[in-house]
Amino acid sequence: MAMTEPRARLAGKVAIITGGGGAMGGAQAKLFASEGAAVCVADNWPEPAREVADVIANAGGRAIAVELDVRDAAAWSAAVAQTELAFGPVSLLCNNAGANFRVGFEEQTEEQFRLIMEVGLNGAFLGIKAVVPSMRKAGTGVILNMGSLAAIKPGGGSPGYAAQKMAMVGLTRSAAQSFARDNIRCVIISPGHVDTPFIRGNNEHSPNDWATSIDNPENFERRLKATPLGRLQQPEDIANAFMFAATDDAAMITGSMITVDGGAAM
Ligand SMILES: NC(=O)c1ccc[n+]([C@@H]2O[C@H](COP(=O)([O-])OP(=O)(O)OC[C@H]3O[C@@H](n4cnc5c(N)ncnc54)[C@H](O)[C@@H]3O)[C@@H](O)[C@H]2O)c1
Repeated sequence: MAMTEPRARLAGKVAIITGGGGAMGGAQAKLFASEGAAVCVADNWPEPAREVADVIANAGGRAIAVELDVRDAAAWSAAVAQTELAFGPVSLLCNNAGANFRVGFEEQTEEQFRLIMEVGLNGAFLGIKAVVPSMRKAGTGVILNMGSLAAIKPGGGSPGYAAQKMAMVGLTRSAAQSFARDNIRCVIISPGHVDTPFIRGNNEHSPNDWATSIDNPENFERRLKATPLGRLQQPEDIANAFMFAATDDAAMITGSMITVDGGAAM
């Protein structure tokens, strides 16, 4: 068997990564770029997206930062157009953008429920619609949706989050079936407890206080205990699975869920 130099795993690929200024989206953007992809780092908050794109560019990679509210179809069209102009047709889409309000059924307001659904679910739906024509031009595509433990066994907390993440399974299967003949795959990746600002910090899209943040040792320990492999996931653990699913190593995987949760869903 002849041995050859390993090729960058995403050479020639063009990716749009939503929530790209966030922890998991940022880790995906950096990993994808290090494997040869040109990356559009898209986020509602432009500053963190700019920072991720700068890190990539400073390391010799190719990236642009784009301000994108995933709830806005016109903004999606503009983001795809900007990406095509910079790098050519889009072949990878990572739908990371998400929101949560950690209150129970009776406390969750209609406004909070709507926001969770509109960012996580409608945002991914609009993203897929905007990107598929570009993927057809590329002749190939992979759509990677961010799931969660809540897509498998939602707890008794935030009803909007449970509904959004379970609905993401349906959206993934629908896209997988709709676009398989276009050589476009769609996969949902479900992390367990990932140490990011989503569950540690206090951001507009995902507020936490002492009662919910993993800064509180009780919350940290509870999540740790729920993870048989004995540590919380890091954004890079999840980015590695996104990478696998994006490559031809996963050529026959579509409509599926990949869990990366240290065994938490067992
Ligand atoms: N951290 C966890 O334990 C965990 C576990 C499972 C799934 N998730 C999911 O992972 C995804 C990413 O979360 P993270 O942990 O990296 O947190 P994060 O807060 O670092 O990232 C979320 C990103 O989404 C962006 N965003 C929010 N609303 C947006 C909008 N309207 N338009 C565009 N971007 C928007 C934010 O600016 C942020 O950059 C979310 O979908 C979340 O539900 C998180």
